[in-house]
Amino acid sequence: MEHRTVQIKNVSRLVDAGGALMRRAPGMPGMGLVWGETGYGKSTAVAWFVNRMHGVYVRALAVWSPAAMLTTIARELELAPKGSCARIVEACAQKLSETNRPLFIDEADYVIEKKVMTETLRDLHDLTGVPVVLVGMAGIQRAIRARQQLTGRLAQWVEMQPCDLEDARMLADELLDVRVGQALLGRLHERTKGSARLLVVGLSRIEANAKARGMKSIDAGDWKLGDEFFWGDAPKPKSAQKQRSDTSLKVVSHGEGGDGA
Ligand SMILES: Nc1ncnc2c1ncn2[C@@H]1O[C@H](COP(=O)(O)OP(=O)(O)OP(=O)(O)O)[C@@H](O)[C@H]1O
Ligand SMILES: [Mg+2]
Repeated sequence: MEHRTVQIKNVSRLVDAGGALMRRAPGMPGMGLVWGETGYGKSTAVAWFVNRMHGVYVRALAVWSPAAMLTTIARELELAPKGSCARIVEACAQKLSETNRPLFIDEADYVIEKKVMTETLRDLHDLTGVPVVLVGMAGIQRAIRARQQLTGRLAQWVEMQPCDLEDARMLADELLDVRVGQALLGRLHERTKGSARLLVVGLSRIEANAKARGMKSIDAGDWKLGDEFFWGDAPKPKSAQKQRSDTSLKVVSHGEGGDGA
């Protein structure tokens, strides 16, 4: 299986929004928000875009303080972070202005929780004019509405979507050495509910299965009912997740992934 970024629709969504932020008229707000369920391909799409635009990518951590966030951004900008937070903000802002590199914060849910960090990102945006894009889980778009200084600056909102069958076909054709028939792909797609992560895991299982049997192409008829695509389950809406955690013992002991997909 190949490891590369396939141009599924979520990648195009990000490229369109990121491009619009980069090309916006002077003085227009330039913050962006990307959100979606786990496994929909946010980090992959962002990493690909950042690489292409020579952007700055940092991933927030649960334990981040404002100083930790600024130190990480400074290092990505090849600065040696020294002195107070205020001095590091100034140094980062200067470097961002000089280089005009867009700044992406992945796992931004951790940042949104803390007012000082959110406002520091807003400061970096205001001081430099470079796009500042927050990437987070589904739900961040609601949390961010409470931060009015941010919402006015958000010029692009991108909701990552589940992969459709066309995306699944692209992933299968571009990542695998074996051909996956449409019926088997359809079954996998349905089982994953469009999660890119689960599609890729399932495809790798299919490829391994076909290779072990010396097959160059594989379809639903070759896939035994007991064969699993992956372990676990596709992401569920929030309310369902809550119910699931309430009955977690039951779920674990029965293993939802073992339904033979
Ligand atoms: N465009 C793509 N091309 C190839 N593989 C992809 C693509 N998008 C996602 N994947 C696969 O799906 C996996 C999960 O994607 P990714 O980590 O980007 O999701 P995410 O939305 O950031 O999830 P989380 O919210 O859990 O961080 C990747 O490790 C990769 O295997
Ligand atoms: Mg991610």
